[in-house]
Amino acid sequence: MVLNECLYVNHSRNTNSLQDDVLQGLLRPPRSLPAKYFYDERGSLLFDQICETDEYYPTRIEAELLDNYAHKIIQLAQPQHILEFGSGTSRKTHHLILACERLGVECEYLPFDVCEEMLHKVRDEFQHQYQWLDVQPLVGDYTAGLDYLHRPDGKTLYVFLGSSIGNFNQAEAQAFIDDVSSCMQSGDSLLLGCDRVKDEKILHNAYNDASGVTRDFNLNLLNVLNRELDADFELERFRHKAVYNSADQRIEMYLVSKHKQEINLNEIGETLQLDDGEPILTEVSHKYSYQQAESLLTDAGLHILRHIEPENAWFSLVLASKP
Ligand code: SAH
Ligand code: TRP
Repeated sequence: MVLNECLYVNHSRNTNSLQDDVLQGLLRPPRSLPAKYFYDERGSLLFDQICETDEYYPTRIEAELLDNYAHKIIQLAQPQHILEFGSGTSRKTHHLILACERLGVECEYLPFDVCEEMLHKVRDEFQHQYQWLDVQPLVGDYTAGLDYLHRPDGKTLYVFLGSSIGNFNQAEAQAFIDDVSSCMQSGDSLLLGCDRVKDEKILHNAYNDASGVTRDFNLNLLNVLNRELDADFELERFRHKAVYNSADQRIEMYLVSKHKQEINLNEIGETLQLDDGEPILTEVSHKYSYQQAESLLTDAGLHILRHIEPENAWFSLVLASKP
């Protein structure tokens, strides 16, 4: 068995380094940081634990939809390649690969993530479990443009699960789907998982689990900054806050300073001054209506093939093709 090394996807747009993001986003109010920095190895493992909490329903629902409909999806898409953005542990992707196996659809799997450690694990696991499957991990930042994506030769199913589309603001989300659509050849398809607008209490609880895993995940961002920027954040001096903003249809997640404090960012020679109660926006998770989920795809020139939702309409899995 040949274990493929990760291929690096070069940036086709100028993107900020962590230092730029800190200078532009963190050092001046309103403070914020891009969500991709959550996912170091520990962050990826914590995210995996979030998915296991009782309150975080999206993973369970999406997995069940995939379990029930993977066969149909693969029949419609007939992929020679499955390229997944933000693949993480790729746990739900097994449903798609198993459907390929059962239908005798031979394909290659290309997981694409910023977290290289996770990609190695996924590659080893999938190669071991599916001897027939080629696995080619892609490491990179999918917000940095897709011009240099190793676009596979042959019919491709692009996959973007976990409601990660919600972690963009609306303009960025559309720009991303437009980017993906530009990569697609006629007959390729895109499978998109979107979380839906629903009762606020359910949304609130999903990002405020009782066991505190989401809190730990949010706080882990400060560990990343301590390591990467030789900073001296003390995690117990911050609190996790996630609230649903119904006007903007999104969860907003913050780290809130519990004190007036100063943090040294030694690597870049800067000091961060925070007031008591001052928030840092670390993540948004936008929620979609049935129609909005479809518009994202149709506005990018794609054609809806199937829109799958559970009975309670809490989640959408939409399959669209490039005409
Ligand atoms: N798709 C999985 C994982 C979702 S968590 C699921 O549905 O459960 C989000 C994943 O996207 C993480 O693995 C993270 O490392 C990756 N990610 C986040 N921002 C990214 C970016 N800008 N480019 C590439 N991968 C990114
Ligand atoms: N894509 C996931 C979502 O928006 C990411 C996520 C879930 C998340 N829980 C989180 C991100 C907690 C940060 C913190 O639901």
